Amino acid sequence: MKKIAILCTTMLALNALTMTALAAPSGSSAGAAAFEANCAECHPGGRNIVTPAKDLRGSTLKANGIVKPQDIVAKMRQPGPGMTKFDSSELPDKEALEIAEYILSTFK
Ligand code: HEC
Repeated sequence: MKKIAILCTTMLALNALTMTALAAPSGSSAGAAAFEANCAECHPGGRNIVTPAKDLRGSTLKANGIVKPQDIVAKMRQPGPGMTKFDSSELPDKEALEIAEYILSTFK
């Protein structure tokens, strides 16, 4: 019985380690998490539930002159009607760029 308990504890500890490794902020996974936290309420899956014509697919963005990560960051700083404004004190440039790169590489 004691052995099983030790085994279980070891398994749990290993599990926790793996989870931490997976959750480590790096590249697009950090962008994905920040997108989920800040943008997904209005842009779930890259859509736009407030103004459906202005979704986040590459083709739509391009049609609206948004082609570079910096263009998306500019939208966060100066959003159109109905979108929350994210200034650099709440969403630093690094995080904003990670979100932008996530959007451009995810929603085609
Ligand atoms: C409260 C809802 C809301 C939230 C939260 C929100 N948006 Fe938006 N977003 C909108 C609306 C509404 C528009 C269309 C604005 C307009 O008409 O110009 C929009 C437009 C955009 C566009 C331009 C899309 C296009 O096709 O022209 C981008 C890029 C964008 N949002 C990125 C983001 C990012 C990145 C976040 C998170 C940091 C975010 N949005 C959070 C509502 C939201």
